[in-house]
Amino acid sequence: MTTPAALAATHALAFTDQRPWSADEFADLMDQFGVAVIGDAHSFILTRTIAGEAEILTLATAPAHQRKGLARNHLKTLLEQRLDRVFLEVAVNNVPAIALYTAAGFQIIGRRRHYYHLTSGEMVDAQVMAWAPKP
Ligand SMILES: CC(C)(COP(=O)(O)OP(=O)(O)OC[C@H]1O[C@@H](n2cnc3c(N)ncnc32)[C@H](O)[C@@H]1OP(=O)(O)O)[C@@H](O)C(=O)NCCC(=O)NCCS
Repeated sequence: MTTPAALAATHALAFTDQRPWSADEFADLMDQFGVAVIGDAHSFILTRTIAGEAEILTLATAPAHQRKGLARNHLKTLLEQRLDRVFLEVAVNNVPAIALYTAAGFQIIGRRRHYYHLTSGEMVDAQVMAWAPKP
């Protein structure tokens, strides 16, 4: 079930060093134009697509279901949607996610300083990554 509460629960389990998003925040996002969920409560991508350009708003796999290819499959489903570009931000120290995105063909296009405020008080830069279909 991809209810806002189920997504919030998985998000909280997956993101151990950031403030988890609440069920209300997920519900608000899911009501917005162009926002879609790929996956289920165990593992999902939340995207916003407008005029052929998609943004990955968040991506999470519950720890008990990680390393089974779920996130890679969701990303593949997204990238098969005839999009012109896909963008995302990822913490520069997030080795698993960067490996996942790089393997899917995303490239680094920028950096946002102190983008993430961790629950520890530490601030971490984000790298902006983009994907485009091969010509
Ligand atoms: C990043 C995340 C979504 C990956 O989910 P997943 O379903 O476990 O990923 P997959 O099993 O599909 O892995 C696909 C590839 O990603 C990379 N990867 C995934 N987890 C990894 C890890 N712990 N260490 C290194 N590489 C990893 C690998 O290249 C992997 O391929 P392989 O298993 O053949 O080596 C998951 O670790 C997670 O929820 N992390 C916390 C939340 C987060 O950081 N989200 C991304 C924010 S931008």
